[in-house]
Amino acid sequence: MESDKQSTERQATILLVDDESINLSVFGQFLAPYYQILVATNGQRALQLAGGAPKPDLILLDVMMPDMDGYEVIGQLKADPKTGDIPVIFVTALTSDLEEERGLSLGAVDYLYKPCHLSILLARIKTQLELKHARDWLKNQNTYLEAEVQRRHQENQSVHLQLLQSEKLAAIGQLAAGIAHEINNPIGFVNSNLNTLNGYLRDVFCVVDAYNAALAEKNFSEEALQNLRTLKQTKQLDYLRGDIPELIAESMEGLSRVRDIIQDLKDFAHADKNDWELADLHKGLDSTLNIINNELKYHCTVHKQYGEMPEIYCLPSQLNQVFMNLLINAAHAIDTKGDIHISTGCTEPNVWVEIRDNGKGIAPENLPRLFEPFFTTKPVGKGTGLGLSVSQNIVRKHGGKIEVSSQLGQGSRFRVWLPIRPPESASAE
Ligand SMILES: Nc1ncnc2c1ncn2[C@@H]1O[C@H](COP(=O)(O)OP(=O)(O)OP(=O)(O)O)[C@@H](O)[C@H]1O
Ligand SMILES: [Mg+2]
Repeated sequence: MESDKQSTERQATILLVDDESINLSVFGQFLAPYYQILVATNGQRALQLAGGAPKPDLILLDVMMPDMDGYEVIGQLKADPKTGDIPVIFVTALTSDLEEERGLSLGAVDYLYKPCHLSILLARIKTQLELKHARDWLKNQNTYLEAEVQRRHQENQSVHLQLLQSEKLAAIGQLAAGIAHEINNPIGFVNSNLNTLNGYLRDVFCVVDAYNAALAEKNFSEEALQNLRTLKQTKQLDYLRGDIPELIAESMEGLSRVRDIIQDLKDFAHADKNDWELADLHKGLDSTLNIINNELKYHCTVHKQYGEMPEIYCLPSQLNQVFMNLLINAAHAIDTKGDIHISTGCTEPNVWVEIRDNGKGIAPENLPRLFEPFFTTKPVGKGTGLGLSVSQNIVRKHGGKIEVSSQLGQGSRFRVWLPIRPPESASAE
């Protein structure tokens, strides 16, 4: 064990600095079995060796030397980041408290007087090397921990981004299902109308064929005429005359609903644009409402109280996402049947959009946590808790804010404030 310790201690390198070679040789010979020894007979050489390789683990420094004394040497060692951390023990013949104080204040870790007991010298060196070893270990540990914190931070960010992405995908999936349903309805009845029209057309042609056959006969008998009348009645030609235009009008109406939904979708996504531009928030609210109609229509009655509002400079599709999150939250807060009020207004230099519901409300202890990423009171798989945090980021990007007030059991009110002209820094992003 002892020999192990000695062999590790041997790894340490000690720089002896003294202008008297006799001192160097006494110290050097005594310490050589324990440490790797470097020697310098003046300050300049000492600085050179301290900055080179192998880097000394400790320096034994004489104070009184010609040209450059020990105080100057330690001053330069401490000023250089490469050598500043090497512990220095002053070894001097000057027995003065003042000198010792000066040496320690310059950064020396210990102060020894010549002549000194070599065993005391060895003990002091060992202590200082152990301390240095502990300091180095802490420093390494610190560097490692800092790197680890950085790595985990990056890891968290990428998990956060992945979650955002999957939340986005889930929301898109949900929306797509709703939109498919909205489109399916009109397509369904246009399809059924076309089938009916197909049957009607067959009947009409059947009557037309009978007329053509009768016209081709040379002698048009009373009986043939009667047959034609009966056929016309059987095929309900008069009824068809009224029903066919209705079916066509209904089908055209259905197709125009599909066209509107697609237009709203395009408006919502703003034709893939993500640029700052002047936009009418009422239009954004309307197309968002149409998109999520399927989520709302069965249990929520939407009331619109749009006020006067100028166009604002914004990222319209991102604001639509905010409105969608607030509206869907409001709809989720309503259990059976309820109302959602959307009101807007302008108080220069800002505009506001308010979404109010009479749903279940928010518990006071949850209010401060609403905008935290991943905060949700919804069951697993229902909410990711990102809607409000994403919305707040978007609104902040516009230089605006979201205000909330709520009464448990009564409902909630979310008001989005946005500047008509966002601060330069925002729109320059
Ligand atoms: N209008 C509201 N009424 C009642 N509670 C609300 C309302 N809006 C938000 N909350 C509460 O705030 C929580 C966080 O909302 P947020 O939109 O951030 O996430 P989420 O709706 O739970 O999930 P996600 O939006 O990601 O699907 C909700 O779980 C809910 O408890
Ligand atoms: Mg939500």
